[in-house]
Amino acid sequence: MLITRQPVFRKFWHAVMPLSMLEGGLPKPFRLLGEDIVLFLDAEGQPAALKDRCCHRTARLSKGRCVNGALECGYHGWTYNAGGRVIRIPQYDAERAIPAEYCTPAYRCVAKYGYAWVALEEPIAPIPEVPEFGAPGWRTIYQFYERWATSPIRALENSFDNSHFSFVHRATFGVAAQPKPSKYELVERKNGDGSIGFQAETLIDATNPPAFHRVSGSTDPITQRHMRNAYYLPFSRRLDIEYPSGVRHIIINCFTPIDDGQLQLVQWLFRNDTEADCPEQMLIDFDHVITREDKDILESTDPDALVDIRRRGVEYSMDSDRPGMLIRKQLLELLSAHGETEQHRGNQPPTA
Ligand code: FES
Ligand SMILES: [Fe+2]
Repeated sequence: MLITRQPVFRKFWHAVMPLSMLEGGLPKPFRLLGEDIVLFLDAEGQPAALKDRCCHRTARLSKGRCVNGALECGYHGWTYNAGGRVIRIPQYDAERAIPAEYCTPAYRCVAKYGYAWVALEEPIAPIPEVPEFGAPGWRTIYQFYERWATSPIRALENSFDNSHFSFVHRATFGVAAQPKPSKYELVERKNGDGSIGFQAETLIDATNPPAFHRVSGSTDPITQRHMRNAYYLPFSRRLDIEYPSGVRHIIINCFTPIDDGQLQLVQWLFRNDTEADCPEQMLIDFDHVITREDKDILESTDPDALVDIRRRGVEYSMDSDRPGMLIRKQLLELLSAHGETEQHRGNQPPTA
């Protein structure tokens, strides 16, 4: 699937940028679904998103600066409010009216969980609920914000794939002698508010060398992970690990689509222990090694992932690919509900 050619994805919220990146008074560019946008904080400190193109001579607004909660173009100083209207042309006398058509498209943008979320069109589903955020007994740790050369579908199927641990993660938590995957219990979720996805529960064995003891809260050489994971259509997931020690390690991922070959990995973590039990940096370092292992193999895959499995002979599957097949089924149902079919390159390899 070529993500940017499926307009329905414009109708979802996407986690685009940590709010902390916008606090320095400079606008920041982002490419979302192939569309160049610029983010900045308005006078109330709320994030705003505009098309990254000045309506005067098309300069990128992200090269400008923020002035009193408005965005000033770096070329001639035309200044935009959060709604995309030009509210100041410094070359005009102050009393001269500015035509209403002097504007650039504005997108829906809200702050949630410490990020700016953007929907390019009227959203058809809410931002996923994350009850641990700000709740007593939980700490929030922002882990990764980085670009990966792969597609959200590849990252999603990987995140529910129990068959790769013994290979991709054999240097970390994978048990090399146990390539047979544990089975997932899958329960589809279709809420009236448009929130669609599934819950996926399983138990896996994980190696637990001394370097991981504080992460797992256990000194056993092999520990167990009780996983209660969830998929949120289209590109988010929750990885909820409970160790026998009672320690919970809950990762939220948004695989935000940049274009047809790249995603922005947005990853944060909740823990129910304390800094004294396991320091934040240790948790970042632990998950950093594991995500490097996934990134390396995923960047070798074709980002034009097969979604409509009626296209025969493109990719073959095995039993443990069931979560990935359910993701495909839900994506296909979404497309068909919006009058779309999967857009793809066919069986051709990507051109360099
Ligand atoms: S191009 Fe932006 S003010 Fe001229
Ligand atoms: Fe992995």
